[in-house]
Amino acid sequence: MAGRIPSAWLDELYARTDIVSVVSQYLPLKKDGRRYWGLCPFHNEKTASFSVNSELNLYYCFGCKAGGNVVQFVMEMERVSYMEAVKILADKIHMTMPELRDDPDYERRRSQQERLYAANREAARYYHDMLWKPEGKAALDYLHGRGLDDGVIRRFGLGASTDRWDDLTAFLEEKGYTREELALAGLTVVKGDNAFDMFRSRAIFPIIDQQNRVLGFGGRAMGNAKPKYLNTSDTPVFNKHKGVYAINLIRKIRDLKRIILVEGYMDVVAISQAGVIGAVATLGTALTNEQARLLKRYAPEVHLAYDGDEAGQHAIERALGILESEGVPAKVLYFPDGLDPDEFIRQRGLEAFQRIRPMTGVSYRMQRLRLQHDLETQEGRTEYAKACAELLKTVRDPVDLENYLEALAVQTGFSRDVLIAQIGVAAPQVSQAQTNNSYEKRESLSPKRLKQSESYRTEQTLLALLATGNLPADMVKAEDFSDQHLRWLAEGLLNGRTASDLMADASDDDTRQAAGETFSLLSEQERDHAAQIAQDCLRNLQIQRLQQEMNALTDLMRTAETPEKRAQALKEVTAISKELAYLKQQGR
Ligand code: UTP
Ligand code: MN
Repeated sequence: MAGRIPSAWLDELYARTDIVSVVSQYLPLKKDGRRYWGLCPFHNEKTASFSVNSELNLYYCFGCKAGGNVVQFVMEMERVSYMEAVKILADKIHMTMPELRDDPDYERRRSQQERLYAANREAARYYHDMLWKPEGKAALDYLHGRGLDDGVIRRFGLGASTDRWDDLTAFLEEKGYTREELALAGLTVVKGDNAFDMFRSRAIFPIIDQQNRVLGFGGRAMGNAKPKYLNTSDTPVFNKHKGVYAINLIRKIRDLKRIILVEGYMDVVAISQAGVIGAVATLGTALTNEQARLLKRYAPEVHLAYDGDEAGQHAIERALGILESEGVPAKVLYFPDGLDPDEFIRQRGLEAFQRIRPMTGVSYRMQRLRLQHDLETQEGRTEYAKACAELLKTVRDPVDLENYLEALAVQTGFSRDVLIAQIGVAAPQVSQAQTNNSYEKRESLSPKRLKQSESYRTEQTLLALLATGNLPADMVKAEDFSDQHLRWLAEGLLNGRTASDLMADASDDDTRQAAGETFSLLSEQERDHAAQIAQDCLRNLQIQRLQQEMNALTDLMRTAETPEKRAQALKEVTAISKELAYLKQQGR
């Protein structure tokens, strides 16, 4: 990934980016010595264990061991890819992305997009303000009539478009936007010399992205006008296959357990008002891979809460396939009687909603297959069993498999053994997607580790000192480190790479954690006496090594088979203990 960006460009980005000011945009930091401290944004805590080191350009949390450089911080906070994080940082300091630098259209396109975002933002505010004026009363009444209260209306920034034909267009032209811009944004329809508003007499749902930019709108007709929902068509800033409704609210929720994906805007708003956390919707189209990947950033699991009608159920099967192909664990919430989530929660309440047991993809598909076969006939049972067997090939977990088999045996009358034979037995396939789930990786990151042996801690101190750049050349060598992670880091530093680079490139979480912890270790005084302390560390490591050797030799003396070997070991022990005595003497 990083390979595509020239390193000189990245160096400049790092040099011009101040990690303290970037982090400060997300959480308050307090200075203490050369480090800054704050409450960790990656886990819940009451005392600050999150440290930012501006000199080394890295952050590290002593509580949850999250750490990295400024790019990784943005990746984690905004839940964006490496490239997107780099771009966000570059935008902040007005650096143009390298691959785009030579593109003469790039700047123009970018400034145009910025105009459209700004126009959309003005429009959203305009629609929202309109809701509380007499001209917006019809829309407000409509939303109230759908059971929404003012709190949720404000939270989602809902609005009203009036029945006049160019209200918004006139308002935005007044603000300096051109007709061309308004047409591009999908806010205005231009026909010859005439321009009229795209949305008229509708309740408005602004679509806002994870960076809080207004991309477009959905407008609900208040009567029976067609279409029921009018949506912004694709524009330079809006793509209905990429965006996700309400993702802007999701990203603020810490430790979200699951996203609830519904079909409609109204479902999102209604169930959110009722107290369901984590609801989002696609934009009137079937779920795409791109949207699935976006959802994956925000929660470890997605629950599909589509309408209970046949269209909804059919869409669930497709969405399950998409989510699985992206390695997103997915479950299904099934609403009876063809209800949609909005109707269900209004008729039966939040508790009933929360009592719905999320079904696994496999159970859900088995249920669907059951409805498609007549289990009263032998033929129907046979076809059903075969179809289910096909499905069960994908189940990895033996306990889950056993449960499905048991249910299937009861439903079809085939014995468990026959069903297993049908499945083709053994080796359930492990799909690439399932093993790639980034959340599994992240979970294994936090609590483990801490090999706090004495020599490990000494090596850490030595490495931290090395990272300060205050040690004489050649004083420390990679071989001084016996821990493999620390040795890799030492090699990097000795090859002239920075601590921050190494944090960014660490190939596994253990190395990254080791780096974060180590590089954030030193106190002010320790840094000022770097060479002297490094000398002590090296001596201590030497002592520890000799001590180990001595222990091994002592064992050998006890177990040696021949007197010659025993004598040899004794000789070596004597030599080592002399050396040890000397080293310890020096240390005082
Ligand atoms: P539904 O028809 O299920 O509507 O469309 P709904 O969410 O239940 O809406 P209410 O309760 O009648 O107000 C689901 C989604 O499909 C898209 C919209 O995104 C809507 O939220 N849709 C529907 C359109 O884009 N255009 C339409 O005409 C209808
Ligand atoms: Mn509905």
